[in-house]
Amino acid sequence: MLKVRDLVTHYGSSQALFGVNLDVGTGEVATLLGRNGMGKTTTINSIMGIIAASSGSISFDDVQLVGRASFKIANLGLGLVPEGRQIFPNLSLRENLVATASNHLNAANPWTIERVFEMFPELEQRRTSMGNLLSGGEQQMLAIGRALMTNPKLLLLDEATEGLAPLIRQKIWAAISMIREEGLSILVVDKNLKDLLKIADRNHIIERGKIVWNGSSDELRKDRDALHRYLGV
Ligand SMILES: Nc1ncnc2c1ncn2[C@@H]1O[C@H](COP(=O)(O)OP(=O)(O)OP(=O)(O)O)[C@@H](O)[C@H]1O
Ligand SMILES: [Mg+2]
Repeated sequence: MLKVRDLVTHYGSSQALFGVNLDVGTGEVATLLGRNGMGKTTTINSIMGIIAASSGSISFDDVQLVGRASFKIANLGLGLVPEGRQIFPNLSLRENLVATASNHLNAANPWTIERVFEMFPELEQRRTSMGNLLSGGEQQMLAIGRALMTNPKLLLLDEATEGLAPLIRQKIWAAISMIREEGLSILVVDKNLKDLLKIADRNHIIERGKIVWNGSSDELRKDRDALHRYLGV
């Protein structure tokens, strides 16, 4: 479904990605792992067209994404849960959910506010609260709900459990598993390796802007050398 080849991205004159290769198959959960500052967010943002790629190719259902505007990429069915959540602070929870909602691809069973509240019941009683008054966990659930309301075919999650209490983290993982059961394809960046490997079909490790390892969760669990060398565990 998503095929990234030889992706190179710069910030001004400083090169951040040095030829990233990454795949997400239909209905798969793929991961992008790596230590701080290795290029995970840069890869995600390059896929979404938020940062312009310098060279390489990103194809999504055989459509080339490089060179396309970000909103056009979103309309093709890519939904982002961005690093740091980026909830609209001066909109209510409900307004955050509907502000970017759409069903461009005419999904048969589209996401609605009701379905988001079913998945995250704690959001319902906070529906009129302003974005900036929500807790970190509520903001993260909202960010996931907001992305789902664009009815994507591929969901990209950048550090969706970062800085959250264990109980809330478990709720987020349960939701991601549920979303996966619905057949959505997912690319996830996260540092909670144990939880991640339970749901991942395919893993990529990035080191200084390059993918240095890829394989299944079983292969990664057994590859102690890669775990130690690239992830420090
Ligand atoms: N806006 C920017 N301007 C210049 N350099 C940047 C910018 N954003 C990131 N970089 C650099 O690009 C490299 C990759 O950063 P990136 O944010 O993609 O890493 P990351 O793997 O997501 O890290 P983290 O785990 O901390 O989120 C780093 O060296 C970083 O300093
Ligand atoms: Mg990051």
